[in-house]
Amino acid sequence: MISTGTHSLQNGFNASEEFKKKALISDPGIYETAEDRLAFWAERAATLSWFKTWDTVLEWNPPFAKWFDGGKINAAYNCLDRHLEGSRADKKAIIFEGENGDTRELTYQELYDEVCKFANVLRTLGVKKGDVVTIYMPMIPEAVVAMLACARIGAPHSVVFGGFSPDALRDRINDAHSKIVITADGSYRRGKILPLKENVDEALQNVTTVEKVIIVNRTGLDINVCSERDFWYHDVMKDVSPVCPAEETDAEDILFILYTSGTTGKPKGVVHTTGGYLTGVATTHEYIFDIKDDDVYWCTADIGWITGHSYLVYGPLTNGTTVFMFEGTPDYPEKDRYWELVSKYGVTILYTAPTAIRTFMKWGQHYPEKHNLSSLRLLGSVGEPINPEAWMWYYNHIGGERCPIVDTWWQTETGMIMITPLPGITEMKPGSCTVPFPGIKAEILNRSGQPVAHDEVGYVAITEPWPAMLRTIYGDDKRYKDTYWGNWPGRYFAGDGAKVDGDGYFWIIGRVDDVINVSGHRIGTAEVESALVEHSAVAEAACIGKNHDVKGQAIAAFVTLREGYVASDILVQELKNHVAAKIGAIARPDEIHLTPELPKTRSGKIIRRILRDIAEGRPIGDTTTLADESAVIALQSIKNS
Ligand code: PRX
Repeated sequence: MISTGTHSLQNGFNASEEFKKKALISDPGIYETAEDRLAFWAERAATLSWFKTWDTVLEWNPPFAKWFDGGKINAAYNCLDRHLEGSRADKKAIIFEGENGDTRELTYQELYDEVCKFANVLRTLGVKKGDVVTIYMPMIPEAVVAMLACARIGAPHSVVFGGFSPDALRDRINDAHSKIVITADGSYRRGKILPLKENVDEALQNVTTVEKVIIVNRTGLDINVCSERDFWYHDVMKDVSPVCPAEETDAEDILFILYTSGTTGKPKGVVHTTGGYLTGVATTHEYIFDIKDDDVYWCTADIGWITGHSYLVYGPLTNGTTVFMFEGTPDYPEKDRYWELVSKYGVTILYTAPTAIRTFMKWGQHYPEKHNLSSLRLLGSVGEPINPEAWMWYYNHIGGERCPIVDTWWQTETGMIMITPLPGITEMKPGSCTVPFPGIKAEILNRSGQPVAHDEVGYVAITEPWPAMLRTIYGDDKRYKDTYWGNWPGRYFAGDGAKVDGDGYFWIIGRVDDVINVSGHRIGTAEVESALVEHSAVAEAACIGKNHDVKGQAIAAFVTLREGYVASDILVQELKNHVAAKIGAIARPDEIHLTPELPKTRSGKIIRRILRDIAEGRPIGDTTTLADESAVIALQSIKNS
């Protein structure tokens, strides 16, 4: 019996005998084989196409790693060229459906042609190997083309999620010193159009490095086109040669930078390189999603996040998979859009986030029941802990009790999935991401680096380097060292709390740092706080993550006002809008409490635990470290109001 809510399960779930019989990985011996980690990863790397084989598998000078050093490889070549010999040339690489129902399909040959042409365009516009290209686009095939074109010429890309504000975009462009931005006129969002190009124009007002902007005409929105700087994609793609030899990049050349939130107000540019990253994402994608040649694979993540990079673009395309790509949202025009798409395109593998699953649960099972979901054979979950109830609902109502669920734990920094079931082998326990992938060493440690006992809560550590690991924070080796390797030298601190049960299964509890996970998206409390204090009315601000039924966590902010400002509902609304405008809609606080004082220690540190108690309606715990009890009395009155 499965008893949800406790971690002691008598029986987990197994894939059906039929699934197991056909599973790509059906021999548990893989874990033992991969104990020789370097041999395992070298053997996996050898399945990619290299211009020159590496000299060393791993050079590890903690915390700096070089994987497959001396090797020459190109990520776009692996995603495209090598599929063109033989039958995969005419295989669909991308099946796309837009928010409004428009569709497009690109075979591997067509995607290759488009990427080569666009790579030539970038070269003509002066983009050279090593130049960082910022991509700020909707979920349309041109976004994938742009990423792969950069990879083809060895120009690292920095994709910025299309929901981020002009300010957030500007900070990321400046940090990466980009000379070029690729965008679209607009992006469809629930029947409205988000003005992407207008945001770019606003961001560029405070940027000196950007010389060129390329714009895809997605929506027909009326936009400013600046004659010397701006180019339409469809114009520059005219009469361009579809022949563009792939740059022979070093295994350790940067493939991309992806900004993610940390504990300070400044997002971190996580650096991923080429050979190890591709080895990691291709292997995990193939083994965890049990990829077969006839699969139609759908990862619902936006290309602006790491899941979009690793499991919508680089993993699946390296494996020659047919990727389904969707521009819209699950509830537009109706709440059954996903299920309509699964049935329409015969999707076989669906990879989505717990927050989406909880939303579907709330909407009710009659939406999926309207559609034939029998093409599905495997489900995936990523981005936050999945509660056992949501796991069971996904299993029963989407998977028809026949699809294994791979609950995959990983991070922007890890680049690849790290802790996960292998669906043909691993018994699944709802709520547990199960065990480390073959060749990955993870443990739960206490602060001083000692392993904790079973069922005891500690911190997730990765104790050996892995091929897709981040190499540094762009331009900030010190922050890289301090953030991830400062706690336990030589071992990676993931920032998550977790425990391991008696079967060796991992149960992730959540972030232990000042990072809030809202609907699977990371937002730093410091980012929201610094946005708030930029408002003229705000003297001081403190944010916390508050448990939320659907989003996992929601942002609650506590704000003290400057002299002369009066608390009001209108001001609260204004502050919420201000944060959304400064960072993006995902960072809009659910709650803002205006208070005369914040609870602080004598040394002036805000005691967030007290704020969490207030926000979640719990009795306030220990207050002995408080400098001034009156702060709590003021907060109590908020709670009771
Ligand atoms: O807290 C963990 C949570 O998401 C964080 C990483 O966020 P990000 O870098 O944005 O990448 C998200 C997509 C890989 C982790 O520190 N997380 C991710 N997957 C899981 C998870 N928590 C529990 N279970 C998961 N499967």
